[in-house]
Amino acid sequence: MFQAPRGTRDFTPDEMEKRRYIEKNMTSTFLSFGYGEIQTPTFENIELFTATSGDAILNEIYDFTDKGGRELALRPELTAPVIRCYVERLQMEPKPLKLFYFGNCYRYDRPQKGRYREFRQAGCEVIGVDTTEAIAELLALAFTLLKNIGLKNVHINIGNLTIISAIFKKLNIQKDGQIELPLIDKSQFDDLKVSLQDSGVCEKDAEQFIRILQTSEINMIRLFIADDPDAIQELKIMETVIDLLKNAFHIKEFDIKLSIVRGLDYYKGLVFEIDAPMLGAEKQLCGGGSYDLVTLFGGSGVPTSGFAIGFDRTILALEAEGFIFPTSKLDVFIIPVNQDMLPASIEIAQQLLRLLSSYETKVFLLILICSVVV
Ligand code: HAM
Repeated sequence: MFQAPRGTRDFTPDEMEKRRYIEKNMTSTFLSFGYGEIQTPTFENIELFTATSGDAILNEIYDFTDKGGRELALRPELTAPVIRCYVERLQMEPKPLKLFYFGNCYRYDRPQKGRYREFRQAGCEVIGVDTTEAIAELLALAFTLLKNIGLKNVHINIGNLTIISAIFKKLNIQKDGQIELPLIDKSQFDDLKVSLQDSGVCEKDAEQFIRILQTSEINMIRLFIADDPDAIQELKIMETVIDLLKNAFHIKEFDIKLSIVRGLDYYKGLVFEIDAPMLGAEKQLCGGGSYDLVTLFGGSGVPTSGFAIGFDRTILALEAEGFIFPTSKLDVFIIPVNQDMLPASIEIAQQLLRLLSSYETKVFLLILICSVVV
């Protein structure tokens, strides 16, 4: 018997109804925040992803050579494709440009619950603005998307790569922390301590750094970076973003967490993740932040930021919270009680469908019954 390939899934009508509910609800939230929808191809030239993340990404993506000898890859995410499209076609558009998308992504991950080889993302990119208000609005949008679909329990964690770089500089850590960043990303703090000490950081400083990575106390972070003006400036920006989130958008479910460094290579400055704590290991529903890809792809420099929400994990989180998904009900049921009534029944069904189609009314004509009932 044939089976769906490892890490992929089929979706039955009941499952598709849940997915369509989320997509519809999120679309109206994106539109209400002034975003326009964009769609890019499912596969891209492979260089787009190696230029973005280096050759190491080849172990994590589905790549192939087509019949014309072109090296292609199924997209592992949509930020690089959207920015490629911006540089190719949209640079002259008025800024800020606010783009949203839904799309399937493909990663050669080890499959488990909440982690698939084919999965769907809902996401957005903001091009041409990096004010604190714009960043606060971006965080508020991510949070609102998840709240509007019915999730109760979600939490934002906010990190900052400029501050992390300043700390690396202060501790004399080489190569921009290429060894340390993945350990921080995976919260492997024991291994991090060993690695820091291997790089010549004394035990006291290593322990203090690991405490800073886990604290949400801004004053403790400020004291640690006090001698780096760039990091202090970045902390001030974070404080303004937080203030706007709390007092203008009335969102309180967030923490500063410098251990949020994001796995992808293109981020800089503020980064964030949103978790659904009920989900356990694969609890990260959303990830994003500020990044720079436009100049790498040959465009003229503009600030960019964005995020993506994992569609599949969002459904798992709603199910874990016991959310009752809205089901579409039947509005009209037409039963031809005998064979003679069949033409009239079909006619009525046709007329109702024409009349009511704009109201998304469901009309069901039970033709099969007639042969039994007659
Ligand atoms: P990401 O954190 O790699 O970021 O993915 C975003 C979300 O996609 C994750 O939080 C998770 O919910 C979901 N996800 C990732 N991998 C899998 C998987 N194997 N199975 C199921 N769900 C998964 C990005 O992709 C960035 N492009 C986000 C972004 C947009 N940054 C700026 N703009």
